Amino acid sequence: MSKGKLQKFAEMEHFENVLQPNIKQYTEQDFPNKGKWRQIMGTSGKIILELGCGKGEYTIGLAQKYPQHGFIGIDIKGARIYTGAKKALELGLKNVLFIRTKIDFLKTFFADSEVNEIWLTFPDPQRKKQRRRLLNAKFLNIYRDILADDGLLHLKTDNPNLYQYTMKMAQYNDIEIITSTDDLYSSSLEGDAKDIKTYYEKMFLEQGKKINYIELKLNKNKEYKEIPEKFTWKKTSKYA
Ligand SMILES: C[S@@+](CC[C@H](N)C(=O)[O-])C[C@H]1O[C@@H](n2cnc3c(N)ncnc32)[C@H](O)[C@@H]1O
Repeated sequence: MSKGKLQKFAEMEHFENVLQPNIKQYTEQDFPNKGKWRQIMGTSGKIILELGCGKGEYTIGLAQKYPQHGFIGIDIKGARIYTGAKKALELGLKNVLFIRTKIDFLKTFFADSEVNEIWLTFPDPQRKKQRRRLLNAKFLNIYRDILADDGLLHLKTDNPNLYQYTMKMAQYNDIEIITSTDDLYSSSLEGDAKDIKTYYEKMFLEQGKKINYIELKLNKNKEYKEIPEKFTWKKTSKYA
């Protein structure tokens, strides 16, 4: 590990807005803050997560815009979280936390219905490893459990295959599609989806890629299943 990274990690140990739980301990055992996030963040508003938050542009941007709500960025990579957490501290944002952990273990961190919205910002598409794709049935069921009734799931992606896969999953599972567009910045949509751009998003836009966006309303009473037919990942110049 580089000296710079080691220094950042050492500094981050003292950040009051970063939690770095022992990953082995909290794969199955509940994290002590589970069910108490509102109390811990001093809010009676919503709890909103950014998953695979990287440097946390949504966590920070939304926290500035909506000070009445609590925002938690989650990522496994410490160096990326460091950047977001340091910025949040510099901005004096009291409604921001970062957790360094795997999205796979969300249910050990959040109680049933404790979360109001989830933002998935440019997740790795996982073309070959569907079991790790953050929009597969296993993950949708995890999100459904921690989300409150009518909880919202937002996805931003540059990847048309991941967009199509998610649309198919939503249609097959009767998930309400509130909004969907395969070209966000040419659409008439306004608001949070357009107002904040992440680190990866800026890179994709510079490469001339279109940004896809979907907003879904998950239903607590549904068991989500994988689409029965094999999803074919297209390989054209448009499809990365
Ligand atoms: C392509 S980057 C996007 C980062 C950021 N959201 C952005 O748009 O700039 C994907 C991020 O997801 C994180 N990630 C991928 N799978 C994860 C998992 N299972 N648990 C936690 N983080 C994960 C990676 O560490 C990485 O930071």
